[in-house]
Amino acid sequence: MTAPAYSIDINTPQPYRVLVGTFLLEQIGELTRGVCESASRALIISDSNVAPLYAAPVSESLKSAGFATSIATFEAGENQKNMRTYGELLDRCADEQLTRSDVIIALGGGVVGDMAGFVAATYMRGIPFIQVPTTLLAMVDSSVGGKTAVDLESGKNLAGAFWQPRLVVADIGCLGTLSDEQFADGCGEVIKHAMIADADLFDELERTPLTLELVKTDLARAAWLIARNIDIKRAVVVEDERESGLRKLLNFGHTIGHGVEAAANYALGHGTCVGIGMVAIASASVTAGVCDEGVPERLARLLHAHGLELACDAADDDVYESALHDKKRAGDHIDLVVPRVIGAASLAPTPLDEFRRILEVGLACAKALSEEITQAEEASC
Ligand code: GLY
Repeated sequence: MTAPAYSIDINTPQPYRVLVGTFLLEQIGELTRGVCESASRALIISDSNVAPLYAAPVSESLKSAGFATSIATFEAGENQKNMRTYGELLDRCADEQLTRSDVIIALGGGVVGDMAGFVAATYMRGIPFIQVPTTLLAMVDSSVGGKTAVDLESGKNLAGAFWQPRLVVADIGCLGTLSDEQFADGCGEVIKHAMIADADLFDELERTPLTLELVKTDLARAAWLIARNIDIKRAVVVEDERESGLRKLLNFGHTIGHGVEAAANYALGHGTCVGIGMVAIASASVTAGVCDEGVPERLARLLHAHGLELACDAADDDVYESALHDKKRAGDHIDLVVPRVIGAASLAPTPLDEFRRILEVGLACAKALSEEITQAEEASC
């Protein structure tokens, strides 16, 4: 099955293009040559889940375009996004004798893109790289905007750099091999985009959720939804590449979400945690009188329709302690993203003691909403 192709230009100071479509993996060599004319070597960085599926066609295509190509694979999982794997990948770049005119191909989901991007940003003080996202989350969010990072013991993405790719190639044919949970992780970011910037998109998703089933039955609509999300991200990152203001809105739900993720020992999916974070902040914002009353329930129902449940047993204290390591913290304040209505949000620098209260109120409301939705569903069966 094919889908219409989209081309979205990201006009940051180092501009690049995002391509969305089908059968693009087989064209990576030619596409890479178009943006890295003088490169002679390409190193594909991928993980143990993605490499067996897609490294061969990508490698073949690169070789056909004249690149001496090799593949570096690491064990899949967020817990591998650490300084040890990062160091091994840097050594691999040196072993392969990559120079500043060569290119790294990040083939995989968010973990691969973040880490390969950070390797590209720092090896020889920076070499070109191409993002080839294979998950929904990486396509609509992490491959666009130039954030690269690894995790430290004390928190997610605490070492990193802004380093823009030369090109992003999103072949949506890759989505068919995702699990429901992996796909739903990306839906968390899609719903986040709708919440902060696009009420029409929210309505569209309420009418027809973006599911793996939709990808299988209506690839054209899935491609359109994905391109629309990339365009939302484009509009934000071209205004604020380095996250000094507007880009912070993209962190909606992530401060509490990252806290839940760490407090639950990474046993819950990223989309689930961000969903809990978004509903918690929306609920606390209603209590504070700054958000429309119906927002948390509509949000919770939309998350549910995308396979993202709000149930979580993590203790408030643990979530709070983990959230304090967040990069959005500045001294005794933390920047929260507060929704006002569906489709619009603003930044609220919040003292930590107030944040602690917001977190408690918000998580309790999210839990209550989750129980309500489950009971209503059981009653209708
Ligand atoms: N994922 C949030 C950002 O790229 O800023």
